[in-house]
Amino acid sequence: MWDYRDFLGEVLIDEPALRARIRELGQQISQDYQGGNLLLVCILRGGVMFLTDLMRSIDIPHAIEFMAVSSYGVGGRESTGQVRITLDLNIDITDWDVLLVEDIIDSGLTLSSVLDLLAVRKPRSLRVCTLLDKFERREVDIPVEYVGFRIPNKFVFGYGLDIDDFYRGLPFVGVVDLEKYQKLTGGGKE
Ligand code: IMP
Ligand code: MG
Repeated sequence: MWDYRDFLGEVLIDEPALRARIRELGQQISQDYQGGNLLLVCILRGGVMFLTDLMRSIDIPHAIEFMAVSSYGVGGRESTGQVRITLDLNIDITDWDVLLVEDIIDSGLTLSSVLDLLAVRKPRSLRVCTLLDKFERREVDIPVEYVGFRIPNKFVFGYGLDIDDFYRGLPFVGVVDLEKYQKLTGGGKE
């Protein structure tokens, strides 16, 4: 894999900004779910970094679960609208206040399908918390209660988000300079 510094357009959200905003979200969630039965459902793999920081900012009892869906074609960057559960929850969510933890909402197609799939299981409540919202790209209307940052329509990576499966571990969210990236990869990895 190439060095990200060779295709980093700019750092969009740095570490202190992420930390501060996630602390706010955690406090808000702690208030809103006081006395509830909170279950954070992390959508793999992009939501992992966000989940682990968010849960440290939530000071009420809560449980976590993981779920994986595939919506993008291999190596693709566009939603297909077809969502398949590749890893399902381990528990019955009937008694839980489910809060979906997502890295980013783009077209909204992925999340919309996941919400449909979970709603039929009749959780006590079902809401969404996303770190990033590429609102200009929305194709389906979905209710999103908690948004970390609204961002412009650019391809971003780091802090859970990948560029061709790499760099999820970066502590910041960066913009991919697609022109540079394509030159580096020679368009060969798509
Ligand atoms: P949607 O179905 O179009 O909303 O796609 C959402 C999913 O696409 C996210 O969970 C990400 O995995 C992926 N995605 C969308 N935009 C980006 C991006 O800018 N960088 C990395 N992954 C992205
Ligand atoms: Mg991805």
